[in-house]
Amino acid sequence: MDGKVALVTGGASGIGRGAALKFAQEGARVGLLDFNPDRLEAAAAEVDAAGPGAMALQADVRDPAALPHLRIRGGSIVITTSVNGSRMYSNVGASVYAASRAARLALGKMLALELARDRIRVNVICPGSVATNIWDNTWVLDREGRRVASEFPVVVVPLSGDKPATAEQIANVVLFLVPDMASHVTGEVVVIDGAQSLLKG
Ligand SMILES: NC(=O)c1ccc[n+]([C@@H]2O[C@H](COP(=O)([O-])OP(=O)(O)OC[C@H]3O[C@@H](n4cnc5c(N)ncnc54)[C@H](O)[C@@H]3O)[C@@H](O)[C@H]2O)c1
Repeated sequence: MDGKVALVTGGASGIGRGAALKFAQEGARVGLLDFNPDRLEAAAAEVDAAGPGAMALQADVRDPAALPHLRIRGGSIVITTSVNGSRMYSNVGASVYAASRAARLALGKMLALELARDRIRVNVICPGSVATNIWDNTWVLDREGRRVASEFPVVVVPLSGDKPATAEQIANVVLFLVPDMASHVTGEVVVIDGAQSLLKG
């Protein structure tokens, strides 16, 4: 990815941080965008040391500032969603999470079509369980008195003896989808879950 620039949202932690590091190791300059300053500087420093340069960008991803640049130059977007809401519906109490992840999948497919004329590819990844800081960064609200309480089932991952994926395992798939190697792949959905969702659909 020499000479390329990657913008990674959620880049301070977990899957985003793993992808940012991978891009840097492959020669890209990387902007790590995150709204939480806690881990952002440390992540940017790590990514900076691994490649030609990295920049910490403290911002909220809901501010859609990046798309106009991509429209001029073409490019590639990878949207991270989840097996929840795409293949797995067994987490009782996770309906809002699953619905939001299903929406990301639909958004990715629509954008693939709408942005094709601008030479922008859009693909979607659906990880299963990944070892990240997601539980530090997620709040379970109002569990008391709910008719359907949230359940957190034991994670079973056939391929890895129940170990969650590493962020690097996810980043390796992103690295296939982003560069020109995948130049004719768009609107595709890649599940990365070690067969977790085949066991618990
Ligand atoms: N960890 C898993 O098991 C898993 C599995 C499937 C899908 N996912 C999905 O992967 C994505 C990344 O999760 P993760 O596990 O790396 O979590 P994480 O908590 O380790 O990292 C997420 C990062 O995103 C940042 N962020 C959140 N909202 C933001 C916003 N509006 N603007 C800017 N930054 C924002 C957070 O500050 C955090 O640094 C999530 O969408 C999650 O649903 C995670």
